[in-house]
Amino acid sequence: MKVVVVGTGYVGLVSGVGLAEIGHEVVCVDVDQAKVESIRRGEPPIHEEGLPALLKKQVDAGRLTASTDLGAALAGADVSLIAVGTPFDGSVIDLQYVKQAATDIGRHLPKGRYHVVCVKSTVVPGTTSDVVGPLVEAASGLVAGRDFGLCMNPEFLAEGTAVKDFMNPDRIVIGTREARTESVMRELYAPFARTEVVVTTPSTAEMGKYTANALLATLISFSNEIADLCSRCGDVDVVDVLRTVYLDRRISPVTPQGRVSPGVLAFLHPGTGFGGSCFPKDLKALAAFGSAKGAMPGILDAVIARNRLQPGVLVDLAKQRLGSLAGRRIAVLGLAFKPGTDDIRESPAVPVIRMLLDEQATVVAHDPIAIEPTSRVLSSPRLSFTGSLEDALQGADAALLVTSWPQYKELPQLLRGKDIPLVDGRRFISPADLPAYEGIGRARS
Ligand code: UDX
Repeated sequence: MKVVVVGTGYVGLVSGVGLAEIGHEVVCVDVDQAKVESIRRGEPPIHEEGLPALLKKQVDAGRLTASTDLGAALAGADVSLIAVGTPFDGSVIDLQYVKQAATDIGRHLPKGRYHVVCVKSTVVPGTTSDVVGPLVEAASGLVAGRDFGLCMNPEFLAEGTAVKDFMNPDRIVIGTREARTESVMRELYAPFARTEVVVTTPSTAEMGKYTANALLATLISFSNEIADLCSRCGDVDVVDVLRTVYLDRRISPVTPQGRVSPGVLAFLHPGTGFGGSCFPKDLKALAAFGSAKGAMPGILDAVIARNRLQPGVLVDLAKQRLGSLAGRRIAVLGLAFKPGTDDIRESPAVPVIRMLLDEQATVVAHDPIAIEPTSRVLSSPRLSFTGSLEDALQGADAALLVTSWPQYKELPQLLRGKDIPLVDGRRFISPADLPAYEGIGRARS
């Protein structure tokens, strides 16, 4: 099949490369000429594990091309995927890029063949049917469901594992009202024959994507609230508390060997809070959408509110350990919102550093790959960055672990014999390995 992907961000580029890998002819379209050129060279404009090799392979094989010319790309195409950004402006998601893409696709809709217009971007229920469909119809003069197909097909890619997630999907959701469109989409994903397919309405598919993210974020905020209670109890450790919870077969799946598999444990983990391009934005968008519909999304609001508190919880732990932070040298370990990415969008490291600077501390921030984007949003004479963990720890009064980069597992060894307390914002290091350890969700040591 020939597939056009509109928008070459995380979702668009990874989906495009994945679809080429499973045998389709893919054209990635973007308005940004620099991104298009980078893709043509086989160099992803984003940092994503496994993507450079796969992109190069598909570009060299001629299965994936990139262009700014949507009209030319659409000629003879079977499916177009709308994978543009849907930023949240504080009250509603901003659909301007989705609308523009729908209109542009409508203007160039391939004639004489049944072309499916598919929304991959995360959008609130009703967007595909009530916004995208009518815009494509208006621009093309054709009728959705009769002359062209309309579908919502959400993506469940997590940054850092996006390529793996695409190639091993947990589920494929096809939101369409038309049998013909369903069969085109089933053919698109035919190589994933063993994956469960949910065929439903476009609005249900849209809601499913938000709900999946909302539940995972709720687990995180729930864990963080329990962590707060644990830290006030004395001799209680939230990590064991949550392990006790997740080892319930009603919560976690049981493997064929009869053991409880990690399952939900990956999100029942306390920490400095969730960040990234999806959870914070999607939670706020869903809560605002619910409120506008007359609902009372109290749980979603509480999840967001708890998450806002977490950077402060980490800084408070440091204050409890050191007393005043004024003039103290604090190593902040990790800037990316999670390991495996250089993405700092909504990263808790940013408010953590701001709070430390407000407390008049001197901050040395370490990250293996996310220094450059952070230095664009944070600057202060008392803030410096380093790519060397040893340098970050040199002369530090305390180290705050914000991102669970694998290399931080060496901290017990690096801190041996040094009087530098570690404040663990991800419960990543075993307290037993360090004499001076503070961690979110455990009684003070
Ligand atoms: C998420 C979803 O996992 C993915 O399915 C969806 O398509 C997009 O949103 P992503 O934002 O890339 O993906 O990251 P994820 O690994 O899910 O982590 C999100 C945030 O939650 C990170 O900041 C992470 O550090 C945090 N987190 C995760 C916790 O604080 N505690 C946990 O137990 C798990």
